[in-house]
Amino acid sequence: MESESVTKITDDLIGRDDKPCSCSARIAELIQLPAGDKITAKDLVRIPVVFRKFFSRFINLSWLVTLFCLFLLPAAQVWAGAYSSSAHGNSSTGVDRSTIDSKYSAFATGSCAHCHEQHASLEGSEPAPTSPSGPNAAMVFSPEEKLCFTCHDGSAAGGSSRDILTQFNETYRHPIDLYSGRHTLSKLEYGKNGAPFRGSLRHVECTDCHNPHVAQPGTQTFDTSNPQNNNLVSNVLKGVWGVDPTFGAAWTVPTSFTEKIPAVKEYQICLKCHSNYAFNTGSGSYSVSDSPSGLSSVTDQAMEFNPANASYHPVVTTANLGNANSLLASRLGPPWNSAPGDQTMYCSDCHGDTDSSKPDGPHGSTNKYLLKWGSWPTQSDGTTLWTLNDLSNSGIFCKLCHTLSGSNTGGGNWGHFFWSYNTDSSGGNNVHTQSWHRNYSCVTCHSAVPHGSKHERLIVYASDPAPYNYNGNTAKITKFTFESGSYSTSDCQATCSGIH
Ligand code: HEC
Ligand code: HEC
Ligand code: HEC
Ligand code: HEC
Ligand code: HEC
Ligand code: HEC
Ligand code: HEC
Repeated sequence: MESESVTKITDDLIGRDDKPCSCSARIAELIQLPAGDKITAKDLVRIPVVFRKFFSRFINLSWLVTLFCLFLLPAAQVWAGAYSSSAHGNSSTGVDRSTIDSKYSAFATGSCAHCHEQHASLEGSEPAPTSPSGPNAAMVFSPEEKLCFTCHDGSAAGGSSRDILTQFNETYRHPIDLYSGRHTLSKLEYGKNGAPFRGSLRHVECTDCHNPHVAQPGTQTFDTSNPQNNNLVSNVLKGVWGVDPTFGAAWTVPTSFTEKIPAVKEYQICLKCHSNYAFNTGSGSYSVSDSPSGLSSVTDQAMEFNPANASYHPVVTTANLGNANSLLASRLGPPWNSAPGDQTMYCSDCHGDTDSSKPDGPHGSTNKYLLKWGSWPTQSDGTTLWTLNDLSNSGIFCKLCHTLSGSNTGGGNWGHFFWSYNTDSSGGNNVHTQSWHRNYSCVTCHSAVPHGSKHERLIVYASDPAPYNYNGNTAKITKFTFESGSYSTSDCQATCSGIH
């Protein structure tokens, strides 16, 4: 192993805060050891095992110091708990590579050494699988997603780990396969280290969204007694850092962000890459080259979910606490109909795998934009826009949560509403059911990016730019007045011929 990385890891772990061997504090910070839960006897047994195994191979003094810091000092000085109660550190269900290489049976289930392999050598030889790209900054045996896929690939050797590989093989996926070497030693992601997510440093890896030292089993569930907390990080996202925007005026790009170590809400993790924190353009838009859906630029989700906007999906805050207007319960499907106005939601309620039997998370999808259901704003052919005529088609993405036709089962009684102009019985939407609107596409009236809007009800104006105005020329409304009851023609000015 070349000396450069030896010096670097020593600097990184020992030189922090300019104190010699401040690495124990660093480790505590990295693996988010909470106060109050001292390292257990089991951990103490595990740590010397690792240490003993590698001791004889550490001829270089700086390696010895590093290892001392990595495994011994924490035992003496810091608190444990998060690791031993994490999915990987769990001593009965955690990581165990002995099914992959019998040499690993020397390590207890849950040992750090199932992933970290100093000098990549065990009993004098390299245990399988060999690292394809040589030494790794974090001393893991295989780089990036390849490490995780050693187990999370659906194979028997992966034990009880979930199959994530299948999802990343889907057409639309977070493109983790396209990046390598972006998590350099000085930029390992568990600490505060600036924003290496733009330009030539733009990337995404499993460890940008998961902390393998802290993650626990358990994904999001809708908490009916605290629906406003339905955006808090779930167990699998614990211990990951993110950013929280300081929001300004409606539809503006936040100019300041607070780093949250760890993130408390899921969107804080997403926004470190999907907002001006990463882009730094100030324009709400950013050119990209790796969009799985073939986009040449992406937009700023912090701007779009700003609680000062006239409308938004309640990812950052609830409709009742921000500027949005809540919907009638009858226009929402379960669980969303239980607390309209008082609930928040996850980005991953909309972005994820269509197949609900597969693991949760925006890993991959057979649908464009990694959508969890159907398609938007076009039909699945990618060109024919959905119109109000299609309202009974269950393939409309929005129907995952919105009843739209009065029922969210695919439209039985939709025809009834369609012909009954100005009828609002059963909470129907009389703009949708107005027969003159029948052949207009959804994006004639709604923003193509349905995150949030400058106008109520995610309405888009003809003067709004692409991508909100589909292709820059599809929107037709010039003025919209929100009504809490039925709408009449005077509420809407549009460039449509005839009545408006
Ligand atoms: C499931 C695999 C896995 C296990 C088990 C594991 N780690 Fe890690 N560790 C990683 C990965 C992956 C990284 C690199 C993260 C990245 O890409 O940013 C890492 C990084 C680190 C770093 C450097 C982090 C930084 O931000 O500078 C330290 C220190 C570390 N691990 C210590 C430990 C210790 C101590 C244990 C056992 C208590 C342990 N790890 C167990 C996978 C693991
Ligand atoms: C040596 C095998 C192994 C490796 C390598 C590994 N994991 Fe795991 N992972 C597991 C096992 C086993 C579990 C526990 C499953 C359970 O709780 O039954 C797990 C659980 C998890 C969980 C918690 C959710 C759950 O299903 O329990 C996350 C998140 C996770 N792994 C992410 C990662 C990431 C990210 C990497 C790469 C940095 C990684 N894993 C590498 C074996 C592994
Ligand atoms: C570490 C950076 C990073 C994080 C964190 C991250 N992403 Fe991404 N995401 C990317 C990159 C890189 C792409 C590829 C296109 C690009 O460069 O923007 C992408 C693409 C996407 C796409 C697909 C866009 C398309 O072109 O189809 C969606 C949807 C998405 N991310 C949602 C999310 C959500 C939801 C979260 C939080 C759970 C999240 N992302 C967290 C970096 C990140
Ligand atoms: C109500 C459902 C919904 C929620 C919640 C949601 N998205 Fe989206 N998102 C969509 C749809 C639909 C599209 C496709 C837009 C289009 O056709 O251009 C999209 C597009 C995207 C894209 C690619 C296009 C772009 O302009 O950047 C990214 C990245 C993305 N979403 C990230 C996020 C993040 C991050 C969050 C949470 C902060 C989030 N989404 C929350 C529905 C949602
Ligand atoms: C994963 C569930 C989900 C999906 C998918 C979804 N929505 Fe929503 N939508 C919600 C929730 C939850 C609310 C807020 C309800 C409340 O609390 O008032 C909402 C609110 C809205 C609002 C009112 C916003 C306001 O501030 O006035 C509109 C308009 C809307 N959605 C349109 C759409 C469109 C168009 C689509 C498809 C492109 C869509 N939604 C997809 C869950 C979803
Ligand atoms: C862009 C962010 C992002 C990336 C990249 C990412 N994940 Fe996830 N992952 C998530 C989110 C969000 C969830 C679901 C959280 C929830 O539903 O509470 C999740 C869930 C999981 C789960 C638990 C699934 C379940 O249903 O129990 C595992 C295991 C996991 N991810 C492993 C991985 C592995 C391994 C990789 C890389 C090969 C990876 N993730 C890459 C964001 C990401
Ligand atoms: C002629 C303009 C127009 C068209 C076309 C249109 N909408 Fe709407 N939509 C509206 C208005 C106005 C509202 C607000 C009604 C209110 O205040 O409750 C709305 C509300 C919604 C809502 C919020 C929940 C509800 O049921 O009211 C959803 C979801 C929605 N539209 C989806 C769609 C979809 C999907 C399409 C295409 C199939 C579509 N819209 C086409 C004007 C339109």
